[in-house]
Amino acid sequence: MTQIQVREAIEEDIHRIDELQKEAFPGDVLLMSSEEMLDRCQGIKSGALLVAIYEKKVVGYCVLTDRSYRPWTGWDFLAVDPSYTRLGIASKLTDQAFRSANRLFIRGFVRSKNSGALAHYRKWGFIQTGLKREFYSDGDDAIVLLGQRIMKPNIVNSLTSWLPKWFFQLKF
Ligand SMILES: CC(C)(COP(=O)(O)OP(=O)(O)OC[C@H]1O[C@@H](n2cnc3c(N)ncnc32)[C@H](O)[C@@H]1OP(=O)(O)O)[C@@H](O)C(=O)NCCC(=O)NCCS
Repeated sequence: MTQIQVREAIEEDIHRIDELQKEAFPGDVLLMSSEEMLDRCQGIKSGALLVAIYEKKVVGYCVLTDRSYRPWTGWDFLAVDPSYTRLGIASKLTDQAFRSANRLFIRGFVRSKNSGALAHYRKWGFIQTGLKREFYSDGDDAIVLLGQRIMKPNIVNSLTSWLPKWFFQLKF
């Protein structure tokens, strides 16, 4: 069986990551520039840029960012080559993301209509902590998801009950 490997991105991966992100998120104004990817590869910009390798090819990537004054690591992007979905590639990336994240939680926004991604995150224990209405330019809502790096004891539920909702919905 072909192994899926996950590692930090290197400069040679940038072109391929750019192809993947344009295919997965067409027209998204927040896509990473090649310069930002290079900064991440070189450790100039903090946060992880992880790639998944399958059959010697980069077939998926994800981006994690630590921003100031947040208890979470931001999950900025996750995408898998459409020819290689349902092989466990996003799962491998997610597993490594939980290991690489510097903070106790990982937080991400997912389109409310993206049932595949929502199923994936829920499988990994992410829970919905908010809803940002018409967050995307086409009017789709964003589901705010929070995952816990250390799965037990489960403190996401208790945290969400005493912190205000707006806190989890901060744009970045
Ligand atoms: C969503 C996405 C990342 C999933 O990648 P993947 O490598 O196929 O995911 P995995 O194979 O690891 O699947 C893990 C689980 O997620 C769920 N899942 C993934 N894709 C799904 C789909 N299309 N429909 C329903 N459930 C899905 C399943 O529970 C799956 O487990 P299973 O295969 O044992 O049933 C991929 O389809 C993708 O890149 N989509 C476009 C970009 C995107 O939407 N990114 C997320 C936005 S943040």
